[in-house]
Amino acid sequence: MKPSIYITRKLPAEIIEPFMQRYTVEMWEHEDQSVPYEILLEKAKHVDALLTMLTDPINKQIIDAGQSLKVIANLAVGYDNVDVPAAKERGIVVCNTPNVLTDSTADLTFALLMATSRRILEAANFIKENRWKNWSPLLLAGKDIHHKTVGIVGMGSIGQAVARRASGFDMKIIYYNRARNIEAEQRLGATYASFDELIQMADFVICLTPLTEETKHLFSRDIFKKMKNSAIFVNTSRGPVVDEEALYDALLTGEIAGAGLDVFETEPIGADHPLLTLDNVVALPHIGSSSMETRTAMMNLCVENILAVLDGDPPITPIG
Ligand code: DGY
Repeated sequence: MKPSIYITRKLPAEIIEPFMQRYTVEMWEHEDQSVPYEILLEKAKHVDALLTMLTDPINKQIIDAGQSLKVIANLAVGYDNVDVPAAKERGIVVCNTPNVLTDSTADLTFALLMATSRRILEAANFIKENRWKNWSPLLLAGKDIHHKTVGIVGMGSIGQAVARRASGFDMKIIYYNRARNIEAEQRLGATYASFDELIQMADFVICLTPLTEETKHLFSRDIFKKMKNSAIFVNTSRGPVVDEEALYDALLTGEIAGAGLDVFETEPIGADHPLLTLDNVVALPHIGSSSMETRTAMMNLCVENILAVLDGDPPITPIG
């Protein structure tokens, strides 16, 4: 019997082409709908490989059900949706998609920083709503980006790519990371700060830290209180790193000036989400890495990882 692969979302035919000759491939045939948990659990019982999305809870029950499961390739750099220790215990390889999405995610992070500080959405809506009657000195005046201080929380590859963009804007770069990275400091002209120092000094606080037990609600009410009243907060990591109620209150009461958000505590959010009622919020539907080029590269990397493991070769981008 051919080894089999289950893909939890509809992917383009040309992406899965390399599987077709040698493997039995099944796919959840919807692009914009997650596979129901019960179906995922049932499929996991019989397959050698899973190609999963960040929206799929790959928990211990799914992993233990996978009696012939050898590899889980998750279409994201973040893997907080996968119980990696449970997979390790069963000898199942877990892969993610680092590197290929670094620049696209940094671009989007910087776009959010710029859109929020220069009020791009408000301004675009202003003109669309036919409200532009005259030029005026302070019409939709935002905040400068150049020569300001950007504070990057999480100086992995995406953090470093954001720092490279920031240096093109003559920004002062400070960062906080679990481990200090002297080489990156020298290369990027970045200065290490404690988390507390960073949030008090930064004009732009950029959250790029992965979601773990330790980082859940890292950005709490107390932390927003310590930020400058003029600070802009940008999150392109994971929603649960932020206490969203505290963020809403901080934006409403002027404790901070604005937020650019690509991720939310519970996704997807509806149009009635409180944060969407605020003019000083620019919100996006988790599209950090979503360019055609990058999403294609991410899908291809998942396929290559699965092929490598099923062929008995080392995976390209294993976790851990
Ligand atoms: C990731 O790769 O973790 C991103 O959130 C997907 O865009």
